[in-house]
Amino acid sequence: MLSGKTVLIGITGGIAAYKICELIRMFKRQNANVRVICTPNALNFVTKLTLQNLSQNEVGVEEFEIPDFKPEHISYADEADIMLIAPATANTIGKIANGICDNLLTSIVCAFKKPIILAPAMNCNMWENPIVQENIKKLQNNGFEIVEPETGFLACGYNGTGRLAALEKIFDKTVEVLQSKKKLTGKKIIITAGGTIEDIDPVRYISNYSSGKMGLALADEAFQQGAETILITTKDVTRPYKTVKVKSAADMQKAVEADFEKADCVIMAAAVADYRVKNRAEHKMKKTDADTLTLELVKNPDILKELCAKKTTQKVVGFCAESENLIENAKEKIIKKGCDYLIANDISRKDIGFSSDYNEVVIFDKTGRQKRIERAAKAQIARRILEEIYG
Ligand code: PMT
Repeated sequence: MLSGKTVLIGITGGIAAYKICELIRMFKRQNANVRVICTPNALNFVTKLTLQNLSQNEVGVEEFEIPDFKPEHISYADEADIMLIAPATANTIGKIANGICDNLLTSIVCAFKKPIILAPAMNCNMWENPIVQENIKKLQNNGFEIVEPETGFLACGYNGTGRLAALEKIFDKTVEVLQSKKKLTGKKIIITAGGTIEDIDPVRYISNYSSGKMGLALADEAFQQGAETILITTKDVTRPYKTVKVKSAADMQKAVEADFEKADCVIMAAAVADYRVKNRAEHKMKKTDADTLTLELVKNPDILKELCAKKTTQKVVGFCAESENLIENAKEKIIKKGCDYLIANDISRKDIGFSSDYNEVVIFDKTGRQKRIERAAKAQIARRILEEIYG
């Protein structure tokens, strides 16, 4: 299954290091080339000789061990298809999250441009420490995959969360990332997210409840699968791919159009305001004695419709947010907008849609075919949508 692949395993200094001997065997059984590097502390728990025998490769520990024309951390990084750090201690997690490169393993991580998976293992109080959790979040936001530790009896005598995840789970995740990474390589995908903001005056605006989570999940998944990803969003996000922060519908249209020509696909998950205030006040509007206030609104450009009108080879995908008659309205909307796919979701439900971590959608294509994806985490829904578009 893994012929031709090189898995680089980084072992850090935790008691779970002994379990990695079996993990190396699992990768070897699938014909992977396994390279192992250890932090000096890891060798307190497992010997270099054992790891060398199991991986059938020299094991790296010190940064300046083998004089070569290429610095050692760069050659390891170039050779591997994926890096897996297991067990990942709180110490190494902290270093990686802060860009510290004080040993061979952390230097390789800093130079590594392919997927990196971390399988943390530590005492439960360390795992729950807010600084460790912040570091984990930071790494996730920067594209690292985390195989979360499990709950149970720990080597230190505590009962809690911190035990290295089951080896099968770590192995499966590595294979999944290795294989899915390839699918969208070479594709350029633009995704929009969040609710646009239309100013009334310098302190007030018109917007909606979109959190940007659905678009973000799509962008994360596209990136995971190897696409050159551009996320155009109204929210603040830090990601390892290109993100463009915008405010109004007009800003969003400009940003989408800047990359549209060379894109393979555009997915409009943003909730774009249909109207904006005709005359935005330059200064804060004053309260008057009148009991009512009338704002005059003008139509915003329909970004999706305009993209569909000028598209050549691009796949253009819209979303359809409805609070009633979902299917009927979606059937009408896909024709009206002229898009290749339309993802319909019911925004009247509290357990899906706006701001929720979950969604349930019906995917329509332009031939009239429809497919329901039952309620699931937005990450799963994103995967299914990309599967539908790219097979
Ligand atoms: O952000 P979350 O909290 O995760 O919530 C996700 C979501 C509910 C916002 C998302 O799943 C969703 O449904 N997004 C589309 C919202 C929307 O604007 O739907 P619509 O039916 O009004 O518009 C149809 C399509 O036209 C959408 O793709 C929209 O981006 C696009 N549009 C709309 C108006 C406009 N002026 N220009 C557009 O391009």
